[in-house]
Amino acid sequence: MFPPRTPTRVQKAHTSILTIYDFLAKYERWTREGGAKGCDFALGNPQNMPLDGFVSALREATTPQNPAWYAYKSNEASSREVVRASLKKLTGMEYPGENIFMTNGATGALLVIMNALIGSDDEVLYNNPPWFFYEGMILNSGGKPVAVNVDPTTSDLDIDAIERAITENTRFIIVNSPNNPTGKIYSPETLKRLGLALEAASRSIGRPIYLVSDEVYRAVAYDGAEFHSPTKFYTNSIMIYSYGKTLLTPGQRAGYIALSPEIENVEELRTILYSSQILSGWAMTSALMQHCLPQLEKLSLDVGTLQRRRDRFVAGLRACGYEVRVPEGAFYVTPKSPIEDDVAFTDTLAKEGVFCLPGSVVKMPGHFRASLTASDEMVERALPIFASARAKVLESGREGVKV
Ligand SMILES: Cc1ncc(COP(=O)(O)O)c(C=O)c1O
Repeated sequence: MFPPRTPTRVQKAHTSILTIYDFLAKYERWTREGGAKGCDFALGNPQNMPLDGFVSALREATTPQNPAWYAYKSNEASSREVVRASLKKLTGMEYPGENIFMTNGATGALLVIMNALIGSDDEVLYNNPPWFFYEGMILNSGGKPVAVNVDPTTSDLDIDAIERAITENTRFIIVNSPNNPTGKIYSPETLKRLGLALEAASRSIGRPIYLVSDEVYRAVAYDGAEFHSPTKFYTNSIMIYSYGKTLLTPGQRAGYIALSPEIENVEELRTILYSSQILSGWAMTSALMQHCLPQLEKLSLDVGTLQRRRDRFVAGLRACGYEVRVPEGAFYVTPKSPIEDDVAFTDTLAKEGVFCLPGSVVKMPGHFRASLTASDEMVERALPIFASARAKVLESGREGVKV
């Protein structure tokens, strides 16, 4: 019967995603009313046509080659082999196929890990500002979210603060590099320090604290910056990855979990993760996407195009008075809002057809987040609107003071 007699886990977790939940409703209205005229910087959604190679891979893979083509798929040996070879190239490490779990994107991977690993009283650390669903997902899995602030000046991980936040109940820490929303790529020095801190803390509590490395943007590093997987600096690591970002096709839901080759308790982890995939709703990559995987691995968005767009966008925003940092990686630029109320400011932009995410949704109040997945044409059309919206809110602020 509805309503249930006591709040469900989802109902309890819902309050923690209210800001993004409300934003999604608003965004849906903006895009419906704005139609093709809108300049969409709000989420990581593609605003250009998909890669040709992606479309042809899907088209080819739809033709069945045997009766089991569209049968239930799990962590198929062929997919595990594709991922194993890719991880060997990326990390130099030899991942056993059994350590790889095919998921429906990174959200699916996180859900599977959280349902498998979080017991009551377990705490999960993550960096603040965060991806907007970490907190709600931890609550939904029955855990306690513990946000640890990054260095406000450099956006780097604050290893001392992480050490202070670890308790007897810490189950794992989520590290996201390149970072959404800050654009920071963590250096090998930082990651080495993090690894040492986690090793010491694990020794002192007598069991491993796992590191969950959210690497969905690892293909998106600018200015020749090198991405270093946090998993290379700590044995007890669990990698999560999504093809949705590298291919700019987030709706097709393909990704994976990879347990580091030397991870402790590997047999138990393999069993519980597979069980969690089943119990989390057959949370596997779909048959079609697994058939395409060998082709998809060869494709990537063009980082050069994104970088040129980033440079044009940042220069254009600065020219009209915005304070904005240059992201090292990932899709997002996070300028300071000209007024403190970032929701009011993004509403002002939206009235003129420019859609951005208020910073308060990603725990960056007083800022807004704009995704470089907008098209070049949108950037050109939006820059004069960013200029006029800034002038307008500053002018009305001054008038407010006069009155
Ligand atoms: C940091 C981060 N992790 C995970 C995800 C989820 O990725 P997916 O669409 O593959 O579920 C996103 C998507 O925006 C993200 O930014």
